Amino acid sequence: MRVLVIGSGAREHAIVARLAADRDVGELVAAPGNPGISRLARTLPVDVGDVDALLALADREQIDFTVVGPELPLSLGVADRFAAEGRLLFGPTAAAARLESSKAFAKAFMARHGMPTARFHTCHSLDEGLAVLRSGEFGVPVVLKADGLAAGKGVVIAESRDAAEAAMVAAMGERKFGAAGERLVIEECLTGPEVSFFLVCDGRTAVPIGSAQDHKRIFDDDRGPNTGGMGAFAPSPLLDAALEARVRREIVEPAMTGMVAEGHPFSGFLYVGLMLTSYGPKVIEFNARLGDPETQVVLPLIDEPLLPLLVAGATGGLRQSTVRLGRDRLTGVVLASRGYPESSESGQEIAGLDRAEALEGVSVYHAGTAKRDGRVVTAGGRVLTVVGRGADYAESIARAYAGVQEISFDGMQYRRDIGRKAIAAIHRI
Ligand code: AMP
Ligand code: GLY
Repeated sequence: MRVLVIGSGAREHAIVARLAADRDVGELVAAPGNPGISRLARTLPVDVGDVDALLALADREQIDFTVVGPELPLSLGVADRFAAEGRLLFGPTAAAARLESSKAFAKAFMARHGMPTARFHTCHSLDEGLAVLRSGEFGVPVVLKADGLAAGKGVVIAESRDAAEAAMVAAMGERKFGAAGERLVIEECLTGPEVSFFLVCDGRTAVPIGSAQDHKRIFDDDRGPNTGGMGAFAPSPLLDAALEARVRREIVEPAMTGMVAEGHPFSGFLYVGLMLTSYGPKVIEFNARLGDPETQVVLPLIDEPLLPLLVAGATGGLRQSTVRLGRDRLTGVVLASRGYPESSESGQEIAGLDRAEALEGVSVYHAGTAKRDGRVVTAGGRVLTVVGRGADYAESIARAYAGVQEISFDGMQYRRDIGRKAIAAIHRI
């Protein structure tokens, strides 16, 4: 089979690394890929937001099967276009991807199907939003979310009524998030640990492929601004078998049957972002794709070939209810450029990649990297994910940081506490 992976991050590097090991994968093409991916797949330049160009590339390369990494092409209908041309692709249609691309849709969908999530109100105008805030219905802190895709920056947790009003004026009055802020969801602020749960779906059946915990803030101890994710570990010790069964019953099953009932069966990777509150697990968000950096620690634990699973997902042919998962623990540490997340430097030479990768139980996944004169340099905010694999969390953390110690570039920043939560959790259990 000739397989195409769309995307250029460390998530896509991890997907490519798994597929490269699959017997049935004949040739691997990645678009646009990155220097790490180019060691495993042929990389071809393309704009992932240009669905026509993606389809033309798949035609030209006679691709048999396509896997989509990022949300943008999904929200633009890449799955619909490929299906219309008879091309097999694993990923949801634009209508199904609204679980991620429209928070207003996702919240209304959850309400229609009785799924546990934060209380909310969707506002269609600034006046409506200000009136809801002033009514005191939600108290403070309160959460405001731009309806559309906003690259992880569309969520504000306002600590005071004034801060909430200012954020609402910025989003709906001044269009800080562009069209993504045309509608705004006001949500009750929940508390509790966050867990990400991943499934492969074929429209009707959803098969769990693992759980993880992300570290969204830039600094240790969850301080500083939100980022795309500064590290992750897998599996989450908080999602035990009983809780996973409850999440499947209360959230995943109603989501799958609800999407079928509404005429938009969901196939593709489903990412359920959960908050474990004292009232039980609640959905913080759905994503219609895998997470980054969670993928880098979740996929290596799947103890069976990935390609047949994804092909079954794309063709409505999932016959299994579980996948075999390894017993190891994985920890991934993101190395970021100076200035991230507000800005990011590029062009700094990266040293030590080979030494890190030579260590036992260490893998390095590329994200914001580029090749210049035969050398690998930085090219973005999140540069690399260094993953350690071990028999327990402590060993996986030690290996990840041993890998990190080998790598350096000017302005490199990373969190020192990735995985600490896993150890704290198992001591409490
Ligand atoms: P989202 O983009 O929806 O995942 O939101 C980004 C982050 O904001 C989440 O990972 C949570 O940490 C936080 N968040 C979102 N919704 C809520 C909520 N209702 N209560 C508390 N925190 C939230
Ligand atoms: N790590 C969070 C995400 O991929 O959305």
